Amino acid sequence: MAKAKSIYVCNNCGADSPKWIGKCPSCGEWNTYQEEIIRTDVVKRPTVSGFHAPKSKPVLLSDVELAEEPRISTAGGEFDRVLGGGIVPGSLILLGGEPGIGKSTLVLQTVLRMKDRKVLYVSGEESVQQLKLRAERITGENQQAWFVSETSLEEIFVHAANIKPDLLIIDSIQTVSTEVAESSPGSVTQVKESAAALLRYAKESGTPVILIGHINKEGVLAGPKVLEHIVDTVLLFEGDQQYMYRILRSIKNRFGSTAEIGIYEMLQDGLREVVNPSELLLSQNHTGLSGISIAAAIEGIRPFLIEVQALVSTAAYGTPQRSATGFDLRRLNMLLAVLEKRAGFKLAQKDVFLNIAGGIKVNDTAIDLAVLSSILSSSLDLIIDKDICLAGEVGLSGEIRAVNRIEQRLFEAQKLGFNRIIIPKMTASSIDLSRFKMEIHQVSKVEEAFKLLFA
Ligand code: TYD
Ligand code: MG
Repeated sequence: MAKAKSIYVCNNCGADSPKWIGKCPSCGEWNTYQEEIIRTDVVKRPTVSGFHAPKSKPVLLSDVELAEEPRISTAGGEFDRVLGGGIVPGSLILLGGEPGIGKSTLVLQTVLRMKDRKVLYVSGEESVQQLKLRAERITGENQQAWFVSETSLEEIFVHAANIKPDLLIIDSIQTVSTEVAESSPGSVTQVKESAAALLRYAKESGTPVILIGHINKEGVLAGPKVLEHIVDTVLLFEGDQQYMYRILRSIKNRFGSTAEIGIYEMLQDGLREVVNPSELLLSQNHTGLSGISIAAAIEGIRPFLIEVQALVSTAAYGTPQRSATGFDLRRLNMLLAVLEKRAGFKLAQKDVFLNIAGGIKVNDTAIDLAVLSSILSSSLDLIIDKDICLAGEVGLSGEIRAVNRIEQRLFEAQKLGFNRIIIPKMTASSIDLSRFKMEIHQVSKVEEAFKLLFA
């Protein structure tokens, strides 16, 4: 028998090396190399003449017939939308998120509500008793939902062959191991091999498979970035554990757009779909406080209004602190530099804290203007009128840059009763402003916006 051979694999990007290295030359991460045992029995590589009867056959696109594949509805509007209209038969979906964010709850709830579907839920993390306790808190009942606590992939395939489910759930891919790979469960090789086998199962049987995967604090799918390439769809479930709101984002979708997001609220009895995202803001009562402004934001393709809170105070210790929750810290530092250089406000000796209400993470640069306005409002202790909202990206020279989907933002602000909005002059020319009843202020420099807000 051949000697067992080991290689070192980066658990961030999947690059390998015969020796251990401290810094991955491929992705630049430190201390990510882990030893893995690999198979050494030689796989016979077929030569060209060895291919006698290939299983696949090339065809012309004009000869391909499109079977009308009805998507499987998940019985949840938000989930269906993020998937692009439901689950595609035979697809492999990865649902990633930090531990404890609610992945198992979301999937279990979906399974229980898919009443007319036979589902096999494999949990490698919880016993069936624990699953039952959890299911009792959640509304919905599916008489055809089968549960098994199992981690061996070979056993899972036996169960799947017996039950022939319409949907297979693996919670989580990190707990599953296959005999094909010799390394320990959770290692890159195991996860990769298991996912590849599940992909073959999905394609051959036409049964869609949902894999749950943990991601680490940096937001990377723990270990196997490689997983993202294998699967058809990657969904991320994110939110702040301190808050109840969760966002389901699609970051890769072979069967739909990645622009859709789903918003949920974690309640005692499971996750509630948040149909009107602006309620994230509307639930807060902030009248008469400085340091608060409202931004007309867009996440994915959905407009919603969010509250941006800032606190500026004199640095108690030598080095001023800058902290941001729900907003990119580097971008905050950039905006502070713009404020100092272009608008002449000296904040170098101040602590600056920034927070997006509701604990959600916003990637939309159109909230820049609201971020700067909140910071100034707190710094000057001047209240911003509560009937005004803002949309605008701020450039390095203090110019207000155009933002996308301005009409959607305006409609959302108007719908929620705002009387005034500040928008970039650049965008305004492209739309028919007479359709809106609000007072629309167009600005091209941050100073103009500040004059409107604080004069
Ligand atoms: P869970 O789905 O176990 O997270 P993950 O699978 O991503 O690790 O969710 C865990 C949290 O959700 C836990 O702290 C309890 C909470 N929870 C509720 O608030 N309401 C509920 O109805 C359920 C089932 C869980
Ligand atoms: Mg879980």
